[in-house]
Amino acid sequence: MSPVEIRVPGDKSIAHRALILGALADGESRLTHLPDGKDVLATQTCLGALGVRISRSGESIRIAGRGLRAIRTPAQPLDCANSGTTMRLLTGVLAGGAVNTTLAGDDSLLRRPMSRLVDPLLAMGARIRSHQGKAPLQIEGTPLTGRRHRLPLASAQVKSALLLAGLEARGLTSVEEPISTRDHTERLLRAMGATIRTVGLAVEVEPRVAPLRPLDLDIPGDFSSAAFWFAAAAIRPGWSVLVRGVGLNPSRTAFLAMLEAMGSEVRVELESTASIEPAGSVSVTGRGLRSLQVGANDVAAAIDEIPILMVVATQAEGTTSIEGAGELRVKESDRIHSMSDGLRRMGASVEVLGDSLRITGPTRLRSASVEAFGDHRVAMALAIAGLSVEGSSTINGAESADVSYPGFFKQLEVLARG
Ligand code: S3P
Repeated sequence: MSPVEIRVPGDKSIAHRALILGALADGESRLTHLPDGKDVLATQTCLGALGVRISRSGESIRIAGRGLRAIRTPAQPLDCANSGTTMRLLTGVLAGGAVNTTLAGDDSLLRRPMSRLVDPLLAMGARIRSHQGKAPLQIEGTPLTGRRHRLPLASAQVKSALLLAGLEARGLTSVEEPISTRDHTERLLRAMGATIRTVGLAVEVEPRVAPLRPLDLDIPGDFSSAAFWFAAAAIRPGWSVLVRGVGLNPSRTAFLAMLEAMGSEVRVELESTASIEPAGSVSVTGRGLRSLQVGANDVAAAIDEIPILMVVATQAEGTTSIEGAGELRVKESDRIHSMSDGLRRMGASVEVLGDSLRITGPTRLRSASVEAFGDHRVAMALAIAGLSVEGSSTINGAESADVSYPGFFKQLEVLARG
């Protein structure tokens, strides 16, 4: 059977960073394939409120970059909506700026931990007031001093925010993580002329001495969005899905190795390596699946793919264990709870032991009414689980998929018909 070909929206992580860095550059940046999800729109709207001129036509966007000093005080608190990346990255930028701002968001974002970022920024001299370590964050922009940070947990958002703060600070800033996370900020900053080095698990940035060069970037497809389609093929033996132009940054693709280890056939064709971000085609064909042992390092490497991995595990022979997944509890929802609740309602065998999971399969899933818990990745993961059910399932709050992938359910319909 020839593979079903699917196009995915532009990468959300890269888009947030490119918008923010475009605003900090000196000159006009041009981005194509900007995704139209609500998270990226939140970053765009916040930048607009900070006085950055942005013009968008479809998937193309121009940002009139005038540097941090041109940022003006917004009339109202900035609404980061559901987006942790918007809030954390902007906090890093605004901490060392010259204006006072308040960053707020929806109920989910107000529940998420911010002290992991606020504390290291305070150590650089930042003036930030949180509500017991949570947003809203009140930021009084002030000159910062570079510092060596050693993060207790792996977080690309925290790392990126500290690097952005370090760019405008006095003296060197370095951020060491327990495990390397996605490196989009480092790649973009390097392309824009910043002095930034990766030394083992640490990234060092020197204070900016010249303006950042504007970006001209075609944003590759979002690997984390494509992952849902790869899983859809993986759980239906004989099925094949092809996604072209998908981002293949090695810090994002650990899920492919997991699918392969579980028995799926995975083909990767790298198309562009010359660009800031590698991209190419990936096809996944479903074969009989076996269970997998996933450790804490694997969880960090595929942090956004663990919900959909849980779905794949329900169709694999044996017990899949996922250890050290505590970070899933502080995402857009408590994903250990949301996913185990949804999958159990569909008849899966899911055991939760603290921050670890055991999923035993294969299980013939059944129709059910499940909750998305306001979490885009939970909504999409449970929808893919629904593909292997005879009859229909209901996902309450499915519209939360719009946060990263507004066209998801339309594409799912097409796929289900095929
Ligand atoms: C992201 C980093 C990860 C990830 C999130 C996007 C980023 O969050 O889960 O969806 O763009 O830097 P953490 O930094 O909290 O792990």
